[in-house]
Amino acid sequence: MKYMGLNEVREKYLSFFESKDHLRMHSFSLIPQVDKSLLLINSGMAPLKPYFTGQETPPKKRVTTCQKCIRTPDIDNAGKTARHGTFFEMLGNFSFGDYFKKEAITWGWEFMTKVMEIPYEKLYVSIYENDDEAHELWHNMIGLPEEKIFRLGKEDNFWEIGTGPCGPCSEIYIDRGEQYGCGKATCTVGCDCDRYIEVWNLVFTQFNRDEESNYTPLDFPNIDTGMGLERMAMVMQEAASIFEVDTVKSVLDYVCALSGKQYGTDEKTDISIRVITDHIRSVVFMVCDGIIPSNEGRGYVLRRLLRRAARHGKLLGIEQIFLAHVAEKVINQSSDEYAELNEKRDYILRIIKSEEEKFNETINQGLGKL
Ligand code: SER
Repeated sequence: MKYMGLNEVREKYLSFFESKDHLRMHSFSLIPQVDKSLLLINSGMAPLKPYFTGQETPPKKRVTTCQKCIRTPDIDNAGKTARHGTFFEMLGNFSFGDYFKKEAITWGWEFMTKVMEIPYEKLYVSIYENDDEAHELWHNMIGLPEEKIFRLGKEDNFWEIGTGPCGPCSEIYIDRGEQYGCGKATCTVGCDCDRYIEVWNLVFTQFNRDEESNYTPLDFPNIDTGMGLERMAMVMQEAASIFEVDTVKSVLDYVCALSGKQYGTDEKTDISIRVITDHIRSVVFMVCDGIIPSNEGRGYVLRRLLRRAARHGKLLGIEQIFLAHVAEKVINQSSDEYAELNEKRDYILRIIKSEEEKFNETINQGLGKL
């Protein structure tokens, strides 16, 4: 496979879908503008919900984006493994009542095999257990043999998050090789070890879920796909985890340089290095989008992330205020795509520095009292 940098994967994806007549839109803010069920934008489709439900008219029926996302179901566990982080970018192509399963599957396969040039033997797909239409397309139109198509249940292959548009989905998996496997005889697509990883979720959005969990068919079916950019880059770079992907690794390396620690030598140290690397990415993008540390809602999430990163800095033996320096690395890595980071650079650094200082004062006062 050809090595590809994270920024290059993003560009290839967006321009591929532009060539399929999609409108490229800039990432929306992390702050949901209309959706009351969400604290933070957590997927590419979340800011587009009004287009899916027909509440608003999209600028074009075919759209492609790279959306900044934050998922914080369990902040205290983030960083404990190399798989989980809070910040990620999600690539997506969307159809608002335009194309449906056939095109989504055709282009999904074309992108993976022709643009990313992933070898055929590494690719697998899953479908929702009774979605015979998806099976027919993968099997007869694309020509995948039965043993490459897995029927999985609602938990894996029915996509919904909060209220709004949802539906059955089909996922594309990549086999990263035996070295990432659990070794069990049953290890295959759907196993939760690191060997077969899901990189792209093609959702066939057909229903709207309301507050009472009623599923009503939408007036027109849509397509919502989501590919984790860091994950895809990890595959293209044959990196062991998302923390070793080029742009993320440069932040991680800086944390190592500041603390004088080496990544990969001690589990506890690694956790602290990962927590700082991941959390500072969330923090930078949240502050950039106008969230300020506080004791409630989004501001509280931001405060917790920032303080966790600061605390792990102390565990690594970093004595001085340091988070704004790490933040600069994030800005440098991502500002080609997110020009707003550069525009608000000084502001972002100032907010981070002042919150870290406040946190330090609180700790020092506490220690004084003790
Ligand atoms: N909404 C789906 C997901 O987040 C695909 O975009 O996985």
